[in-house]
Amino acid sequence: MKTSFATTTEALFCAPSDPPTDHPPGIKVVALPTAEEVAEQAAQALLHGAFDLPGRPLGLATGRTMAPVYGAFAALVRELPTVERMHLCQHWQSFNLDEYVGLGPASPGSFAAEMEHHLRKPLVLPSHQVHLPDGLAADPGAEALRYRDALRQAGGVGLQLLGLGLNGHVGFNEPPCGPDSQARCVDLCPSTRQANASAFGGLLAKVPTQAITLGLSDILRAQRILLVVTGAAKAPILQRLLHTRPTHSLPASWLHLHPATVLLADSAALGS
Ligand code: GLP
Repeated sequence: MKTSFATTTEALFCAPSDPPTDHPPGIKVVALPTAEEVAEQAAQALLHGAFDLPGRPLGLATGRTMAPVYGAFAALVRELPTVERMHLCQHWQSFNLDEYVGLGPASPGSFAAEMEHHLRKPLVLPSHQVHLPDGLAADPGAEALRYRDALRQAGGVGLQLLGLGLNGHVGFNEPPCGPDSQARCVDLCPSTRQANASAFGGLLAKVPTQAITLGLSDILRAQRILLVVTGAAKAPILQRLLHTRPTHSLPASWLHLHPATVLLADSAALGS
């Protein structure tokens, strides 16, 4: 289905980097003044990705950065003509990056609950079209592989939405991590658990110690990647990311090797 917002998103992925990055093909930087504008632009890209890459699910992320993106996305969907909105919902397929071990959709801090709140309910999407790893699986390692295989069978990700962890993780690929890393069960860094404690009432003890995540090898298979970074707290790690060669100590740095990665960032995150 051809839509009018396609041109905007083509422009996003074809835009020159601002500023240019050091290592080809590099991550293209698209700088916007505010987090609201970043969310709006990311939502447009998501909408385009949902329509434009048939047979390829969306790759989705969670976290505070993504909440306004999904808010803007739901608003855009509400404005669509009924026939386009129905088409979108009927053909929707998305796969999230990760989930905490031991948590299911009924647990408030789970990513499944987050997606339910921000996406599935507002868009009235059937649960079998919004995929996440099963955090309650008896064997989390086996669940990671089952989930990865289900994603591949669904066609592989078209547009992958990514947030950036304060320690440079993407998904839950904690440092050190290489580009060949597979879907798996991981131990979370203490700093990551601390950063995510707000989703658990600020109680560190309630933050799970493990998670199921797609690996960097899975993420790098996506046709297009949209990395979304906002807020001054991310400025130090973002500076490192933009000025480093790919290295195991900064998992997101492997995105420099991907042929179609765009970073959407606000002035606060870019320190400009
Ligand atoms: C989390 C998630 C990531 C997310 C990142 C940034 O721990 N595993 O998928 O993108 O860290 O989160 P936030 O946007 O809350 O800073």
